[in-house]
Amino acid sequence: MQKITVALLSGGISSERDVSIKSGNEVYKALDKDKYHVIRYDPKTDLAQIVAEHSTIDIALIIMHGPYGEDGTIQGLLDLLGIPYQGSGVLASAVAMDKLISKKLYEKEGLTVPPYMVIDQNDYHHAKDSIRHLGLPVIIKPVKGGSSIGMDIVYSESDLSVSLENAFQYDRQVILESYIKGTEVTCGILGNNELLPLPLIEIVPNQGYRFFDYEAKYKPGATQEICPANIDDDLTLKVQECAIRAHKALGCRGCSRTDMIINDGEIYILETNTIPGMTPTSLLPQAAQAGGLNFSQLLDRLIELGMQK
Ligand SMILES: Nc1ncnc2c1ncn2[C@@H]1O[C@H](COP(=O)(O)OP(=O)(O)OP(=O)(O)O)[C@@H](O)[C@H]1O
Ligand SMILES: [Mg+2]
Repeated sequence: MQKITVALLSGGISSERDVSIKSGNEVYKALDKDKYHVIRYDPKTDLAQIVAEHSTIDIALIIMHGPYGEDGTIQGLLDLLGIPYQGSGVLASAVAMDKLISKKLYEKEGLTVPPYMVIDQNDYHHAKDSIRHLGLPVIIKPVKGGSSIGMDIVYSESDLSVSLENAFQYDRQVILESYIKGTEVTCGILGNNELLPLPLIEIVPNQGYRFFDYEAKYKPGATQEICPANIDDDLTLKVQECAIRAHKALGCRGCSRTDMIINDGEIYILETNTIPGMTPTSLLPQAAQAGGLNFSQLLDRLIELGMQK
């Protein structure tokens, strides 16, 4: 059987470069070398090489997070070159990267999001009014980001400016969002036309972490990730339905992972990731494993869905 030539893209120039490189190494190890001829590219240095070699590539696996990886830009380049890739296209990738536009689409779909306000870097004198309106505590997050980079919880008005200045290092627009206390869950979705929701994972950062921040995400043992989540079947189905609606509202394809918080039976949508973390212990691969697909089989499925385009 002729091998499929896979261009494995990892690295890039976003603040999640390190995570992307680690994921890329794990994906490389797990790809079945009997089926795939794998060529690795780091878009930080290898864009010209991808262009030069495009006619030899059957599919690209984009294992990159954040701007210039998960936001539609690399997807646009691959479209121009006629290279299929796993997951969402240009528009859904760009939309999902933008937490403000995503919220508007979730709201239009009738999904619940935490109350929020947007603050622009050039005009943030009204930030204090916003937190009076939203109430404390508030979560601060850059509009375009990931891995909790630039995020904070603000408990008092006096801490606001330090957190905002930090967030503005990552984006010129920042969202202030009511802090929702509750059970945090994430739901992976696989499929193009028929969408398969994966088992839910409940996220419980250890004591000492105020939320699922960068360290809680990546330090081994810092967070309990309970799969399947300790949630009854009815609520599980509702949460999975919300994740499917979020995936469709943004126009995602192939795969996504939507983060949510459940409070008193209400399901709040936080965000949808179009290229979720991709090490064997990352959330989507764990959920796939619980749903019967090991890491190599998940990669096979993503490639198969990508080649269906
Ligand atoms: N409104 C909120 N109320 C309570 N906690 C929140 C809220 N928004 C975010 N969080 C916490 O912050 C974490 C990161 O938020 P979010 O998922 O929006 O950002 P992200 O950096 O894009 O995440 P990812 O790494 O999944 O891409 C959440 O997993 C959750 O623990
Ligand atoms: Mg998240």
